[in-house]
Amino acid sequence: MLTNKTIVLGITGGIAAYKAVDIASKLTQAGAKVEVVMTESATRFITPLTLRAITGRPVVTSMWEPAGEFRVEHIALAEAADIIAIAPATANIIARLAAGISDDILSCTVLASKAPVLVAPAMHTAMFLNPVTQENLARLKARGFIIVDPASGKLASGGQGVGRLPDTEIIIAAIEKTLTRSSDLDGRHIVVTAGGTREPIDPVRYVGNRSSGKMGYALAEAARDRGATVVLITASPHPGPSGVEVVTVETATQMQSAVAKATVSADALIMAAAVADYRPKNVSPTKIKKQAPGLTLELVRNPDILAEAMGSFIKVGFAAESENLLENARQKLEMKQLDIIVANDITETGSGFAVETNRVTLIDKQGNVTELPLMTKREVADKILDRVGELLTKR
Ligand code: CTP
Repeated sequence: MLTNKTIVLGITGGIAAYKAVDIASKLTQAGAKVEVVMTESATRFITPLTLRAITGRPVVTSMWEPAGEFRVEHIALAEAADIIAIAPATANIIARLAAGISDDILSCTVLASKAPVLVAPAMHTAMFLNPVTQENLARLKARGFIIVDPASGKLASGGQGVGRLPDTEIIIAAIEKTLTRSSDLDGRHIVVTAGGTREPIDPVRYVGNRSSGKMGYALAEAARDRGATVVLITASPHPGPSGVEVVTVETATQMQSAVAKATVSADALIMAAAVADYRPKNVSPTKIKKQAPGLTLELVRNPDILAEAMGSFIKVGFAAESENLLENARQKLEMKQLDIIVANDITETGSGFAVETNRVTLIDKQGNVTELPLMTKREVADKILDRVGELLTKR
């Protein structure tokens, strides 16, 4: 699997840099072409000569002293790479990549490359857990970087904690997984909705729901990573992932217009949004003052976006239920003429709104029922997209 793959191995300056020798060695033994790029501080921990001997390739350490084989080093490496793996990655490189700073050969190579980038952080626990490092990692993740979580154990600084570079096998497995990542949605147009719509009462208040948008965002990211062109129509205030066209809406009516526009050329519509079924009949142009002892809001029905969405694209809906999960989900599948419905018991621990995990059951038009275990929302997203991909190839 690694044979003839070009792996740019970025090594940055932490004590775990010595472990990169083992990674480079195992990758080379597996048949990969390993191009090592070291930051200046990495060369304080291990010598380029060691890596040159291990990989049999020139090692690049500077923008200014090309190793001879390439003309514009960072561009050549950026283009040649099937994957860029940075192991160990210090807090410093993580911050520089998050900010788009390109002041050395490694950061320039990453910025210039379209290849997937895997980052394996290794540092002292406090540095890793520092909110700024966590924010930077979250930013990289949202941009599609693959983060290999550090292991816990004894640290070079003497203490115990999270921050150790994981074993070589774990890093190589993550590289392999990324290289074989499916691009089954290459060239497909996928529209995803996310978040809970907000229906205004007056300029200050709205009728809303508890949806966080996490499931829809995970779907948009997963579809992007599998090669699709993605439009994410979101009613959540969170910024959308990069590499995805983001359309921000507030109300169900706005979401319906955005869906109609985006699905003109779509292959699939996945409605993960929690759409308000009702909206206030009259929206007060001024803030409603408290006067009477009670206030009655008259609500009118919103359109059912999914049921009314017209076109030959695959339709995937979600059924968020608190009782009679499968029955209700089946009914929705039929009534809204869906290809797949994702049934979601929101009363279960680890499922539903504002959590990172979900436990769902997929039901398709043919009546196949697939119960999935508790997974991260990203894993659920990939399972849904596996099915969408299958349906698209059958067409
Ligand atoms: N949906 C929609 N438009 C609406 C309501 C829901 O497109 N006005 C979509 C949701 O995005 C979801 C699916 O329909 O994919 C099911 O939504 P859900 O809220 O579970 O069900 P409802 O159809 O609203 O039915 P009920 O509230 O009675 O359970």
